[in-house]
Amino acid sequence: MKRAVYPGSFDPITNGHIDILKRALEIFDEVIVLIAENHEKKSRFTVKERVEMIQDATKDLEGVKVDSTEGLTVSYAKRVGATHLIRGLRAVSDFEYEFSLAAANHYIDESIDIVFFMANSESSFISSSMIDGLYSENVDISNLVPESVVKMYKKK
Ligand code: PNS
Repeated sequence: MKRAVYPGSFDPITNGHIDILKRALEIFDEVIVLIAENHEKKSRFTVKERVEMIQDATKDLEGVKVDSTEGLTVSYAKRVGATHLIRGLRAVSDFEYEFSLAAANHYIDESIDIVFFMANSESSFISSSMIDGLYSENVDISNLVPESVVKMYKKK
């Protein structure tokens, strides 16, 4: 069983994340979508809300689990027997951040490797913070995020 962890803030999950998750499932038998703490970001949704949105958005995908951690991503991966982390890359601007995150993770535990997927062209401009900005300006986000996210925004 090849298991990977797909960590992120997922605040909220977008169609770009879902695309990367589906592609990761072509390689791994099981992918755990892991909500992890990014101390540089203030979150819009609670962890419970994020878990709920992701669970709903992935309910028809086989081999997906959803979890959260307050600790280190690589420690979580080791604990659950995952061999790889999954991350997405949208543009060159993501590279520097991903490069240092990967280096930090490698420093903590070099036995966990990272697989990067390039965002597809339709998703390359979507980010969680952009979704939040668009929603605040009353722009329709229903083509950019799963339905569960639209519902959660309306509920808030
Ligand atoms: O979606 P994001 O915000 O770019 O995801 C970043 C995240 C949450 C994957 C990263 O901040 C993370 O792994 N946080 C957990 C703490 C950790 O493992 N830090 C390791 C290196 S600094």
